[in-house]
Amino acid sequence: MIDTLINKNNPLDENYVPEDLVVTDNNEGNFHKYVDPSLKPSVTREVYEAFCSLQEDAKKDGINIIIDSGYRSYDYQSMVFDSICEEKGVDYAFEYVAIPGTSEHQSGLAIDIAVLNDGVYDDNITEESDVYKWMIQNAHYYGFILRYPKGKESITGYNFEPWHYRYVGVSLAINLYEQGITLEEHHLKNSLTLKMGKEQA
Ligand code: DAL
Ligand code: ZN
Repeated sequence: MIDTLINKNNPLDENYVPEDLVVTDNNEGNFHKYVDPSLKPSVTREVYEAFCSLQEDAKKDGINIIIDSGYRSYDYQSMVFDSICEEKGVDYAFEYVAIPGTSEHQSGLAIDIAVLNDGVYDDNITEESDVYKWMIQNAHYYGFILRYPKGKESITGYNFEPWHYRYVGVSLAINLYEQGITLEEHHLKNSLTLKMGKEQA
């Protein structure tokens, strides 16, 4: 499951809920303001363990990273999509927010990051942010990939999102990072290799 491709063409079942969700207990993110600001994000246990280790090491470098948004149910994603449409318009929503069923957040394997700077919550993550620079250099060692990179918009189907990371496990994350490819390209490569193998067989 950790390498599953979830995108506009590869949706999850409406009723899919990960089995091993855990509520993160050290995050003050307020993305969930759309429902209740006191809600804490959930992710799968494996993702949380990887994130905690990343968080601890980032802290040593002065970066106080938090999970701003983790698991989002189909219905929750629906609400997010509608809210963003209302706030920023439909065109913006389609470029940045997955329609329900097609969001990686429903898998519990995706996180949006934010930071706490001297206790002050900041979710305005850009290419210039120290946390972005730290994540670009280190996230793969903990199993996370920047899922919607700049320059790959036509492949991922989304605009550059410097805050959205996907857990795929350490070895795949390092592999994708070293090749400079997205999960879409990885799956395409795998299916082509499989097809060529069958043709040669
Ligand atoms: N922002 C990403 C595409 C999502 O809504 O899942
Ligand atoms: Zn996200």
